[in-house]
Amino acid sequence: MAKTIQAIRGMNDCLPTESAKWQQVEAVIRQVVASYGYQEIRTPIVESTDLFKRSIGEVTDIVEKEMYTFADRNGDSLTLRPEGTASAVRAGNEHGLIYNQQQRLWYMGPMFRHERPQKGRYRQFHQFGVETYGLESADIDAEVILLSARLWKLFGIEDAVTLQINSLGSNEARQNYKQALVTYLMAHQSQLDEDSLRRLESNPLRVLDSKNPQVQALVKDAPSLFDYLDDDSKAHFDLLCQLLDDAGIRYEINPRLVRGLDYYNRTVFEWVTDSLGAQGTVCAGGRYDGLVEQLGGKASPGVGFALGLERLVLLLDTLQKIDQDMPAADIYVTALGDDTRAFASKVAESLRDTDKQWRVMLHCGGGNLKKQLKRADKAGASVALLIGSEEMANQQVTIKPLRGNGEQSTVACNELAEALFSVL
Ligand code: HAM
Repeated sequence: MAKTIQAIRGMNDCLPTESAKWQQVEAVIRQVVASYGYQEIRTPIVESTDLFKRSIGEVTDIVEKEMYTFADRNGDSLTLRPEGTASAVRAGNEHGLIYNQQQRLWYMGPMFRHERPQKGRYRQFHQFGVETYGLESADIDAEVILLSARLWKLFGIEDAVTLQINSLGSNEARQNYKQALVTYLMAHQSQLDEDSLRRLESNPLRVLDSKNPQVQALVKDAPSLFDYLDDDSKAHFDLLCQLLDDAGIRYEINPRLVRGLDYYNRTVFEWVTDSLGAQGTVCAGGRYDGLVEQLGGKASPGVGFALGLERLVLLLDTLQKIDQDMPAADIYVTALGDDTRAFASKVAESLRDTDKQWRVMLHCGGGNLKKQLKRADKAGASVALLIGSEEMANQQVTIKPLRGNGEQSTVACNELAEALFSVL
């Protein structure tokens, strides 16, 4: 027997039982973004490597170790997108969507990072994200946070996630802070692990993100980014807090929240849960006012976030907030005897015309009643329509309820829809 080929480690198939859940989640997301007036943008999965190097930052985990980068047949260096913000800015600049305009965009799709796979962390994963452009004041920061909060509410998980926010201030404020942090960390070098020592050299703010308890303890007493904020950033952050308070959104200010991508300034935020183990960040984002210009466009502010769909589905599963079983069919149309096939197909088609919500599955491949009913049960149908030569001759259909204790009945074809409305 030929050897079977398996999926790449960390890249998952989404099988029918699972995809039904994804569809439920995606439908809620689409409805929510529409209700805020956001428009969809779709960008390619592959971009030039430079795009991510210049936006996410050369000295970040993503660019240093996690990108799927390869030379294409022309020798150009291409990368499977590890996130969506860089692509949105690239596309916005390229098509003149950003300069002098306001945009509220969203996207959903696969992203790729070569991380060590574990529960909630994969090499191909999916993000739903929003990106807004041309809006400077903190009201838009509040809006994107409110949009995410609305999702938690609709999914019934608002008590399972907490919002952490912070401000990184202006570039200048961050530089000043960086110096103070480096001075502090240098004085405690012996307590830093190898990774933190490396970060101290290359990207000191990322030491604040260390998961090592000893480093975390050290960082607790480090100077706070908050004390270095410039006045404008402080006022911006105060307004955000006030808007969140007014909207009844609870949050924690976490002065050590710095995020792993370089493009942020001012607001950063994360929605975290402790129901998922180590990979508890469900959604994260912030403001990136310098990125549009950094990628060659005319300066324009940007704010957005991305939500990890695998983590959201896992969370909904864990908290039992999502329908586990989505049957493939509501109505299963049997065809008992070869001569009934065309008639049965006609009945099925007419039901699909009658109600677009009905999922109607037609039996194919013949077989006796027992076999066909077994298939109806497997499809999860609520009713089977029994169509034999007698029904066909009389232009009738027999309705057999498969769940509950309804009675079997035979109705004329022109009364079928009516009868089904009362059963389904
Ligand atoms: P990020 O924090 O790198 O930010 O990713 C956002 C979310 O994507 C994470 O909170 C997590 O839920 C999910 N995620 C990330 N990596 C993985 C993985 N390996 N497996 C499963 N889920 C994962 C960004 O990507 C920014 N572009 C967010 C943003 C948009 N900021 C402004 N606009």
